[in-house]
Amino acid sequence: MILVTGGAGFIGANFVLDWLALHDEPIVNLDVLTYAGNLENLASVWNDPRHLFVKGSIADYDLVAGLLRSHRPRAVLNFAAESHVDRSIHGPEEFIQTNVVGTFRLLEAIRGFLALQDETFRESFRFLHVSTDEVYGSLAPAEAAFSEDRKYEPNSPYSASKAASDHLVRAYHHTYGLPVLTTNCSNNYGPYHFPEKLIPLVIHNALSGKQIPIYGDGMQVRDWLFVKDHCSAIRRVLESGKVGETYNVGGRNELTNLSVVNTLCEILDELRPLPDRASYKSQITLVRDRPGHDRRYAIDAAKIERELNWRPRETFDTGIRKTVEWYLANEAWTENVTSGSYRQWIDRQYQ
Ligand code: NAD
Ligand code: DAU
Repeated sequence: MILVTGGAGFIGANFVLDWLALHDEPIVNLDVLTYAGNLENLASVWNDPRHLFVKGSIADYDLVAGLLRSHRPRAVLNFAAESHVDRSIHGPEEFIQTNVVGTFRLLEAIRGFLALQDETFRESFRFLHVSTDEVYGSLAPAEAAFSEDRKYEPNSPYSASKAASDHLVRAYHHTYGLPVLTTNCSNNYGPYHFPEKLIPLVIHNALSGKQIPIYGDGMQVRDWLFVKDHCSAIRRVLESGKVGETYNVGGRNELTNLSVVNTLCEILDELRPLPDRASYKSQITLVRDRPGHDRRYAIDAAKIERELNWRPRETFDTGIRKTVEWYLANEAWTENVTSGSYRQWIDRQYQ
């Protein structure tokens, strides 16, 4: 049994679905269902006896302590977070509450639980904290990609809150001996990505005939990784990562935002041509830049490749095509998210 937090969100749901497709081991899935939590993502495993969904917060010490006591998971994987940089700029409070206080309470509950277990259980237990490359700050154009020993220089309230959570995880290992692992991954894309983030937003706006907003000059660089490759990296780290270590995860796919958006428009032009054969590119609009916008992220994934023999399966070309195909085949999913009806998924499902 493993306990996953945030498993109704984008990466957490992909992780849960892949895990249950690959393993017999059951999952307890703890998610408070913020706007980003969508039970429709879990529809295919909703009646699977190996999947137990619990609605609740990582910041609820008593709830987490009770789940640990009753299910005795061999690992806790923490995906739960507020994850959108723009939202953190408009309202940082939730980011501190969830990412910092929530992670702290989760660590405390695990510390209390492990104190009551025997040494064999404690030694095999793992807490895996899912974090981001944004904690390292922004790279200059010719600078080397982020390695694990890069100093933390977070620039947004989101990345600062993730950095704080990483530091707490580290401290609980050094002070209390908690068996922790941390992953710092670059930008993910793929199925079930909430359409407030660049790639699903571009697909949705293009298909809806709306403007495709590009912040500033569009020359910011992100290092894109297909979400299922991130999930496979997390499984590798859980299985074989060295306790106390951090692992950077990335696909060596550095691209400017403009080139990502152009690629998306070209794939849509091919797969869903506009009636007048115009290009979706005509909807691209340069808009005001994000305050404090990080210019470039890039991950040096040499450590996880060398030590854990992990490699991504998708290139950007294969992964982005699969992603567009998924969104075209699942327009009802985006419609339910953008209309808000995804929040009544259980009622709709069982009415
Ligand atoms: P998401 O916003 O899509 O999902 C977050 C999930 O956490 C939601 O289901 C939400 O309901 C849940 N949640 C929020 N607060 C909670 C709480 N207090 N208790 C329990 N559940 C709570 O995020 P995502 O993109 O899937 O990211 C998952 C994790 O991966 C985050 O920690 C994020 O920082 C990290 N990460 C994301 C990316 C990316 O590109 N999306 C890249 C690297 C790392
Ligand atoms: O690097 C990992 C991080 O990637 C994760 O930790 C975050 O949770 C995740 O949201 C993502 O952060 P970004 O800020 O890089 O992702 P976002 O999709 O919001 O933006 C990607 C780039 O595109 C960024 O440079 C801002 C730009 N952008 C974004 C949106 C939503 C636009 O130009 N226009 C847009 O409308």
